[in-house]
Amino acid sequence: IDLGTPQSTSQTMVSLDIDGRRIEVPEGTSVMRAAAQAGISIPKLCATEMLDAFGSCRLCLVEIEGRKGYPASCTTPVSEGMKVTTQTPKLADIRRGVMELYISDHPLDCLTCPANGHCELQDMAGVVGLRDVRYGYEGANHVHARIPAREDQEAAIHGRTLQTKPNPLYSPKDESNPYFTFDPSKCIACSRCVRACDEVQGTFALTIQGRGFESKVAASQNNRFLDSECVSCGACVQACPTATLSEKSLIDKGQAEHSVITTCAYCGVGCSFRAE
Ligand code: FES
Repeated sequence: IDLGTPQSTSQTMVSLDIDGRRIEVPEGTSVMRAAAQAGISIPKLCATEMLDAFGSCRLCLVEIEGRKGYPASCTTPVSEGMKVTTQTPKLADIRRGVMELYISDHPLDCLTCPANGHCELQDMAGVVGLRDVRYGYEGANHVHARIPAREDQEAAIHGRTLQTKPNPLYSPKDESNPYFTFDPSKCIACSRCVRACDEVQGTFALTIQGRGFESKVAASQNNRFLDSECVSCGACVQACPTATLSEKSLIDKGQAEHSVITTCAYCGVGCSFRAE
């Protein structure tokens, strides 16, 4: 289980209250990780325990007694005596609203997507209880659409029309790398790939370019992946929560029933390999 943010190495313990449970964790632990350690799961997309917290997806908002607004639990460190609530009707409403905006800009081709069944966006839509989307980008064919879930497989087989039109705002797929593809139309700009490239691999080949609707992941200076500083280590592919970065073997052969991820011990870089 991914606890959301890296472990704190502090020896000083802090106790706090999350959803009425008394919890003791090392100082510097995030509220998200403290909750996960107590078995309380908070929805998340941009956080993973492999990378420093970033706070970009805004799904993990919580309520903290004495604090205004809804802080992100992944970027909020615990403090002594803190009282946190992770589930209220208001929080559920905010999370569904945030998720609806993500989905409004995402092609709904889940049933034919290489990440189907392993997609964190699809899973989180289920966790926050979102099935119907009221919005769509200009020219979209999925305004008022229903998000395909695994149980819709049968409906698809029996001829239901799938929503597959990608937002024309995004660049075409980059297939230049021999091992993986980059499909910008599926990107939610969580920056996990950019951070994995920087923090895990130390290559700094990726960046987030542009602002607002136009923000997108780009291989350095908007080059194709193959022409950039990318060394094809796969850290970005492993970090991606959707099918934006997908292994070509996965697209060709589908998901393996079992896979083992091994980290190479030859040097300190930490390249990972998947055996299926
Ligand atoms: Fe906290 Fe994304 S998981 S903001």
